[in-house]
Amino acid sequence: MLKKSGPASRPSLDGFGEGDSNLSPNRKRWMDANQDQDSRRLLEEDNRYFLHQSLSTPCLAAVRRLEGIWIEDTVGRRYMDFHGNNVHHIGYGHPRLVKALKEQIDELPFSPRRFTNDTAVDLARKLCEITPGDLSKVLFVTGGSDAIDMSIKLARAATGRHKTISFWDSFHGAGFGGLSLGGEALFRNNMGPLLPGSEHIAPFACYQCPYGHKDIDGQPDIDACHLACANMVRYVLEKEGDVAAVVAEPVRAVPYVPPMGFWKEVRAACDAYGALLIFDEIPNGLGKTGRMFTSEHFDVVPDILVLGKALGGGMLPIAAMITKPELDILADQALGHYTHEKNPLTARAALTTIEIIEDEDLVENAARIGGHALERLEDMKDRFPLIGNVTGLGLCIGVELVTDRDEKTPAIEAADRVLHRCLEDGLSFKTTMGNVLTLTPPLIVTETQMDDALGILEAAIAAER
Ligand SMILES: Cc1ncc(COP(=O)(O)O)c(C=O)c1O
Repeated sequence: MLKKSGPASRPSLDGFGEGDSNLSPNRKRWMDANQDQDSRRLLEEDNRYFLHQSLSTPCLAAVRRLEGIWIEDTVGRRYMDFHGNNVHHIGYGHPRLVKALKEQIDELPFSPRRFTNDTAVDLARKLCEITPGDLSKVLFVTGGSDAIDMSIKLARAATGRHKTISFWDSFHGAGFGGLSLGGEALFRNNMGPLLPGSEHIAPFACYQCPYGHKDIDGQPDIDACHLACANMVRYVLEKEGDVAAVVAEPVRAVPYVPPMGFWKEVRAACDAYGALLIFDEIPNGLGKTGRMFTSEHFDVVPDILVLGKALGGGMLPIAAMITKPELDILADQALGHYTHEKNPLTARAALTTIEIIEDEDLVENAARIGGHALERLEDMKDRFPLIGNVTGLGLCIGVELVTDRDEKTPAIEAADRVLHRCLEDGLSFKTTMGNVLTLTPPLIVTETQMDDALGILEAAIAAER
């Protein structure tokens, strides 16, 4: 029989979404066992009034309190939050941020059209100072999806072209811009025509290489693959000839880390064919990967950098687009004239969050604790055949479960059982693509907390034997 060299074919995700499913039988069993009368009533009300949608409603439990790395539900169960929608870099309810926001509400809660304010300008200056290279012009908006839309609009205007290249399986937001760039059926199905010219290519994914190359224990074999994934970006840029921008997360949210040299090659290809490079650092920017910006690991500066999520400190919604100065070209047009573009309250949330990350050395902590976690997980991989691959950077960590290591068949049902066992024992995280346990704790996590969490995970994986 021919040995398969491409990525594992994925079993049906029936009942299991591309993330963890809100309809899985394990979840139903967990809910039946873990809700009291009051929380059941609240969940039923939620179920009644919210439109149902995958990954959101129905919900698993109701939250009463958030603090540091902890979620407490209305039944009184506590969970270490190793997901946090990637908003909780500084931990939930950071007292310094609470104080700063209270003061800002008293001082100046909004900034109407035609007026600027200290806080928004301070944030703009701060972002220009800390972002890599010559990124030095900003626009703010309330959410990542809108920030991505602005970046596409700017790339179109700057290049006079409309096409984009992005990756299958990516997510860049739920608006039509992000949806068109994204490559997940869960978001794209039933939507009719999306933005014309949104080209997709297979992404880097060394453990499950879509180009059919073999990995060496999860690492790329560059001598054999010659960066086929980066070459494909160049190939499509050349064939299309008129692409406005390549848009991607520098480390994919799965998470998959690119092979070394990938982004340098893509940067060079973008320059050769006149396309902009847009980095979506909405979940991972501000230190998650152990550098303030993920792009710094790869020594590549994008033309446009997009931030969101943790920028609001886990309290307020704010996202930002930071660009090279030469992209300041649309003075006569409204590119991102959003109601809250210079809101001092959301700007205060962002500014104080960045100050906390800096003052508490949280980026260094993410690198150190993340490195420790990866070592422990590699050791677990040696002992549990269910773990096919461990990957990540800093506190963006993936544990890929497979039913057999040769074929790398995704162990989707096992991943769902492991998740629910972990929830039972007080650890919450997300699964990606059904079988990748995705651990993204806040940057404040301590080594002891990480060890506790990995102990829970290990017990849940051991129970699969
Ligand atoms: C990589 C990426 N881009 C964009 C977005 C969209 O951000 P928002 O939900 O704030 O619109 C997300 C959100 O999950 C994301 O993970």
